[in-house]
Formats: sequence, structure tokens, C-alpha cells
Amino acid sequence: MEKRELLYTGKAKSVFATDNPDYLVLVFRDDTSAFDGKKVEQLARKGRVNNIFNAFIMGKLAEAGITSHFERLLSPTEVLVKRMTMIPVECVVRNFAAGSLVRRLGVTEGLELNPPTFELFLKNDALGDPMVNESHVKSFGWATEAQLARMKELSFQVNDVLKGLFASGNMLLVDFKLEFGLFHGEVVLGDEFSPDGCRLWDKDTRKKLDKDRFRQGLGDVVEAYEEVGHRLGINFDA
Ligand code: C5P
Repeated sequence: MEKRELLYTGKAKSVFATDNPDYLVLVFRDDTSAFDGKKVEQLARKGRVNNIFNAFIMGKLAEAGITSHFERLLSPTEVLVKRMTMIPVECVVRNFAAGSLVRRLGVTEGLELNPPTFELFLKNDALGDPMVNESHVKSFGWATEAQLARMKELSFQVNDVLKGLFASGNMLLVDFKLEFGLFHGEVVLGDEFSPDGCRLWDKDTRKKLDKDRFRQGLGDVVEAYEEVGHRLGINFDA
């Protein structure tokens, strides 16, 4: 597979065409952004850490029967993925209250949510990724009823698999965001799963091991991501 022209530059990844119309190359950069791109910094090793972390997680999900766009790692910062038509909606599952849920509803951070919640946000930086509901998704044609049902089902399946995985490293999976796309008509998990798009706390101390360290200026951001990986047995320097 040959890497061709740059198609799109996202906030943390760049997307390149390949010589096969069904595949793309994603390059994970060290750029780290928060607050809809208003806070941006370069964090050394972050591209490499997130790419390798994501490959590990997508592998675990594949073992559990959850298909994603992930094909194979090409280098420490590059991955080959299926080319999909992305659904412009972010799916967020929460096991504990944090972040925007705490701000929106005034609940205490760390409140356990049982059953977990499922929320939808429109991917639109200019509008600040507003929360939307299932009827918006259908009425505006972002996804059909069947596609939406599949996104929800897959989101909860990912939660079940990853809650257990992170628990094995003494971590709580607080919440996470997923994006889906269509590949030959099928709803498939896209984007990435890394500490940039989820919240992970140490189970005993509730120390934050995710992008909240960057958002809240707590420092040791990539060090925390690497700690999460090491607890799961990932080697970032192989
Ligand atoms: O900010 P909020 O609490 O709604 O975020 C919920 C989860 O989704 C967090 O894990 C956050 O990192 C992730 N998220 C994301 N990208 C966004 C919005 C939220 O990865 N644009």
C-alpha cells in the first residue's frame, strides 16, 4: 500500500490517501488540543503513544468481535485504516459523572451512573459540538434509525469490553467518545480510542490518567498515557 496525497488535517491526526480507494493512512501527530481547538500544544511522543495505544485497543475489540476501521500499524505514528464515510455524530458513554455532564446537570464528579448513559454530540467545532438527540440524528439525516441503533449497540459493547480491560490495570473507565462510519454500507467503528478521547482514573486514588491532565493543566500528560499503557502491558518502544 502506497501513501499518497494529504486529504485532511484534523486536530491530532492527518489523513492521507493511498493507491487503494478503500484505504487511508492516518498519521498521529504530537498536537494536543482541547476546548474545541482553543488550547493547542505539542506534547513529545504523544502521536506515537496514541497510535500504538489505539492499535492495542482496536485489537482487543476485534478479539471481542467488534469491527473497526483499523487494518495494521505502518510505523510508530502511522496506521492503515479502511476508508469510510464518517457519520458526523460523536457517541459518548459514561460510567461515572465527569466533564460536561457535571457542568450540565450539576451532579458531583465521580457519581456512578448505573446503567451507563449514552449521549450524542454533533461534530461541529464552530458550534462547539452541541449535544443532540436521536430524533435530530434521524431528522437531519446524519444516520438512519438502524444505523443509530447499531452505533448505540456497539458503543455499549465497547464499554463492556473496555471496562473489564481497564479494570485489569486497576483503572476505572469513566467515559469515552466513539465515532462511526460506513464501510460498504456497514456501521464500523472509526477514529481512535486513546486517553485523548476517554477518561481513566486510578481505581484507588482516582488520579486522572487521561486528557483531563492537559485540559486542567495538571502536567505529565503523555507520562500518564504511558502509565495507562504499561498497566495494560503495552510497550511503546518496541
Ligand atoms: O466533555 P465531555 O464530558 O462531554 O466528554 C465526554 C468524553 O468524551 C470524554 O472522555 C472526552 O475526552 C471525550 N470527548 C472527545 N472529543 C470531544 C468531546 C468529548 O474525545 N470532542
